[in-house]
Amino acid sequence: MMPELIIHNSISLDGSLTGFMPDMALHYKIAGDYKSDAHLIGSNTIIAGNEMFGDGIPAEEPSDFNQPERNPALPWWVIVDSGGRLKGMLHTCRRFEFCRDVIVLLSESTPAEYFGHLRDRNYNFIIAGKEKVDLNMATDRLKENFGISRILTDTGRILGNILINAGMVDEISLLVHPLIVGEKCYPMFSDINKNTEFKLVKSEKFDNGCVWNVYRL
Ligand SMILES: NC(=O)c1ccc[n+]([C@@H]2O[C@H](COP(=O)([O-])OP(=O)(O)OC[C@H]3O[C@@H](n4cnc5c(N)ncnc54)[C@H](OP(=O)(O)O)[C@@H]3O)[C@@H](O)[C@H]2O)c1
Repeated sequence: MMPELIIHNSISLDGSLTGFMPDMALHYKIAGDYKSDAHLIGSNTIIAGNEMFGDGIPAEEPSDFNQPERNPALPWWVIVDSGGRLKGMLHTCRRFEFCRDVIVLLSESTPAEYFGHLRDRNYNFIIAGKEKVDLNMATDRLKENFGISRILTDTGRILGNILINAGMVDEISLLVHPLIVGEKCYPMFSDINKNTEFKLVKSEKFDNGCVWNVYRL
């Protein structure tokens, strides 16, 4: 059986993924409560996260070349990066204390030098697909090789919508924030190519005005 896949996002009332500051503590509290085996993240999301919350990319230290020894109950961070855009940046993820370690998803088109870069730093990686990553194949391998059976996807529209269009998503968790982004809206679902019905299975209101809605296929 394929791993269970949950999309978890914070959105505005008009469905935007960006253009406002989510309640990060609540966003990650909910994400953590899923106790998933892995978080699946797109390369754009990692780059945007570093720009928003980082203070530049720190120089690598010798310890960044080793896999961290952390609690195996922590989730892996599985990052889709067939183009090798995160070369020189992955240690910002590996250093994160709530990440077990990084697994990189690559394709047959990934630049050869990126493989060497990852091997030198002892990153786990999976090669699936010719051009872009074949996400079905990759999630199968995550289950086979790493025992990953529940994946939480905290990513942007591109990767999230590809997963929904591919019929891979079991659950959508939306933390709806009480504001409208308007003109700069980055709508969460605007690349979806057909109607897909979900059932509301949970709705919870928080003191900060956010509502958490959970939908299952
Ligand atoms: N509000 C929230 O909850 C939330 C959460 C996360 C992110 N965000 C925001 O979302 C934005 C980033 O999201 P995004 O929509 O630009 O990108 P994204 O969701 O990070 O998706 C980009 C990823 O999609 C992969 N991809 C593209 N085409 C593919 C295909 N055909 N097959 C397989 N994989 C494919 C790319 O892989 P390659 O690298 O291999 O090309 C890349 O890793 C940022 O502004 C971030 O702040 C918001």
